[in-house]
Parts: sequence; C-alpha cells; structure tokens
Amino acid sequence: MVDEIKKFLEEIEDFDPKDKNEVEDFRIRYMGKKGIMAELFAGLKNVETDNRKEVGQQLNLLKNKAQQKIDELNVKFEQAEITSSDVDLSLPAEPLELGARHPVSIVHNEIVNIFSRIGFTISEGPEIEDDWHNFTALNTPENHPARDMQDTFYVEKDPDVLLRTHTSSVQIRVMESEKPPIRTISPGRCYRNETISARAHCFFHQFEGLYIDENVSFADLKQTLYYFAQEFFGENTDIKFRPSFFPFTEPSAEMDISCNICKGEGCKVCKHTGWLEILGCGMVDPNVLENCKIDSKKYSGFAFGMGIERIAMLKFQIDDIRVLFENDVRFLKQFKSAII
Ligand code: DAH
Repeated sequence: MVDEIKKFLEEIEDFDPKDKNEVEDFRIRYMGKKGIMAELFAGLKNVETDNRKEVGQQLNLLKNKAQQKIDELNVKFEQAEITSSDVDLSLPAEPLELGARHPVSIVHNEIVNIFSRIGFTISEGPEIEDDWHNFTALNTPENHPARDMQDTFYVEKDPDVLLRTHTSSVQIRVMESEKPPIRTISPGRCYRNETISARAHCFFHQFEGLYIDENVSFADLKQTLYYFAQEFFGENTDIKFRPSFFPFTEPSAEMDISCNICKGEGCKVCKHTGWLEILGCGMVDPNVLENCKIDSKKYSGFAFGMGIERIAMLKFQIDDIRVLFENDVRFLKQFKSAII
C-alpha cells in the first residue's frame, strides 16, 4: 500500500490538465464515492495493525494533496476564463445616470429665492396639526361652512388631530411665537379628502406668505404679489385681483395672472379667458391677529397662499397633476436641464 500511495502522490504532482473538464474528471477519480481515496481508505483494514496508524496518516496526506491540487487548478482555470474571454477591460464603465430635480422642488426653490430677495424668512410647521391651528384660530370655528371646502383626514378617532389642509396653519404658529414685524413664507405639504383627478390630488404642496407690521395695506400686498408674478412668470406678466372670501382674511381676493401660453389671446389652458387663477390672498382678519395675541389696533398685515403643483403645471405645461406623484423616471428625466 505504501508503494501505491507513493505512485499516486507522483501522479498528483505531475497532473497537468488542459482544461476544467480534466480537473473535474481528476476530482471524480480521486475524491468520488468510488474513487481512489475511498478505495484506499477501505483497504486500511487489511493493513497490519502495527502499520495501520502510519499508513492512515499517509493516506490523509495524499487526500489533502489531491484536494489542494484540485483547488489550485480550479482557481487557475477560472482566472484564465475571466482574463482571456471577450471582456475588454479598457472599455469605459457604464455611465451612471444623474438624477433630476422634481418639478415641484424646482418651483419651490425658485419661490424661496424670489421671496428671500425681498426679506422674507422661511418657516415650517407640522403636517399633523390640531384643529386650533388649521381651522379655529384661522377664524373658521366648528360648523363654519368654509370647513366643507377643506374636507380633512383625521388621525385616528381624535377629531382634534388632523392632517393640515393648508399651510395657513403655519401663519398661526409663527404669529404665536414671534413678535411683529413678521415677514415669512411657509412652504409645505397639505392633505385633503379629495377624489384624485387630473386637477386635484389628496396631497399637494402649498406656499403661505405672511407680512405683519404697523400700517401694512392692501397696496403692499398688491405690490409684493406683482413683484412675484413678474419675477416668476416673466416681465410681461399682468396681474388681476378678484374679490373673494376666506374666513381668515378681510377683505379677501383671488389673483389671476395673464396667460403666458397664449399671451392673453385665449387658449385651452386659460379656458379662452386670457387669465389664470394662481392664488388666494387678503388682509389678515383682526380676529386672527387677536387669536395669536397680536394687537389688531396697532398691527395689520396681509397673507397669501398658493398651490405649488398648480404653478409647476403652468410653468412646465403639465396637464395632469397625477404625473407629479407617480415618479415615472421617463417623466422626471425631462427636468434635467432645469438648474434651480
Ligand atoms: N388657505 C387657502 C387655501 O388653502 C389659501 C389662502 C387664501 C391662503 C387666502 C391665504 C389667504 O393666506 O390669505 O385655499
């Protein structure tokens, strides 16, 4: 048996296969269930007891040698496969696609820039609000009909905890915690229990503006919004105010801009009126100031609120609000060149 082991050791040493298949045959020949090693180990019982231990050790050595050889050869052929095949390592790597900013973010950033230039700060509030900040402090007590226009999602069964329906709630938070003069804009996400359609969604983004100081007038409101419209939509943009109603402002108005698609001629987007409605605004109702412990005899102010999706749709001529929330990369890719 000792001679046999010697012979196999030499065979293992000299084994020089051409390919992986030969290595596999070799593995089966030595290590297979009925292979050389199995046979030799089975023959161990016929070896004289005195020599059995030593022969057993030599068998183990032989087995290790065979396994080592198989492992080395497998690594060698695998590496050869990688380097010799059709992989051209000098080719450039697959390009990594750069993302694009979401149109809502682009508009958000642009609005922040415009108002920052005239001294407005940025303030934020929670998306899960209480009834006081979303409705009651804004002069919209329980059972006020204006609550119907903003059907809300309530959090659990507590009617006091809800998802805010507008960013006007941040007005209240700012006025409760800061003293006039206040000049701030509050962007953020809002929620309403609306049926989703091309024009409406159950969540969207708004922008609230608030200016409180002594002697603030409607003329200041008009001038601020005129500046915004010109900066955002272009120098030739006209604005128009229509009387409206909001519980938290008195007087209230809605502002239209001249249609920048047809230049006032009339088109599908402006429904042939030449005008597009973009925001609600007004002079902060004295009740609202008093709710926030601001002296309404001394201070006055204006507020405005607008939907960011609506502005993004006008800017990029998008006719369905739903595409803004579907995150389809084919849609989002189109905004790569927008820098803001
Ligand atoms: N919060 C109103 C809405 O969601 C928008 C609005 C109108 C905000 C008039 C204001 C405002 O600050 O003065 O429809």
